[in-house]
Amino acid sequence: MKALVVYDSMYGNTEKIARSIGSAITGDVKVLRISEVNPSELESIDLLIVGSPTQGFRPTKPVQTLIKNMAGETLKGITVVAFDTRFAESDVGTGLRLLINMGGYAAPYIAKELKKKGVNLAVPPEGFFVKGKEGPLKEGELERAAAWAKGIIEN
Ligand SMILES: Cc1cc2nc3c(=O)[nH]c(=O)nc-3n(C[C@H](O)[C@H](O)[C@H](O)COP(=O)(O)O)c2cc1C
Repeated sequence: MKALVVYDSMYGNTEKIARSIGSAITGDVKVLRISEVNPSELESIDLLIVGSPTQGFRPTKPVQTLIKNMAGETLKGITVVAFDTRFAESDVGTGLRLLINMGGYAAPYIAKELKKKGVNLAVPPEGFFVKGKEGPLKEGELERAAAWAKGIIEN
């Protein structure tokens, strides 16, 4: 299994989740910040995992650009999944909760954009929770991320 975990992260929380996912997958795994990825890296992989903080209901601009520029042809035959970090609904006020429900999160956005390119996602997009804008992650999220990653391989 040759896997690539690509992430963006402003405060380090999404990076921690990406590294936990990377450690949970056996085989040839690379975990790269989005600025370190070059297009050739996408060739000859079996599994691509894309992660982003949710910012304004969306992935960050670099993640949006990466997906936009990915050729459907390159992604053919690759298993792709998406994750994000986000606020938990129970931690935000009613007004913001309504907005978040309408606006959505980064991972479903990534999934939707990849589907437009003909990619089938191996598992539904997943969100991992932070306690505040800068983190930290909620208790147990690193372990949940590792379990989620193991589930992808077993799928
Ligand atoms: C400008 C900005 C906008 C944000 N918008 C949202 C949002 O729409 N929904 C949400 O759940 N969290 C939102 N957040 C919280 C981020 O999801 C949180 O900062 C992120 O999970 C932290 O990950 P990181 O440490 O990898 O940057 C926002 C944070 C910032 C800084």
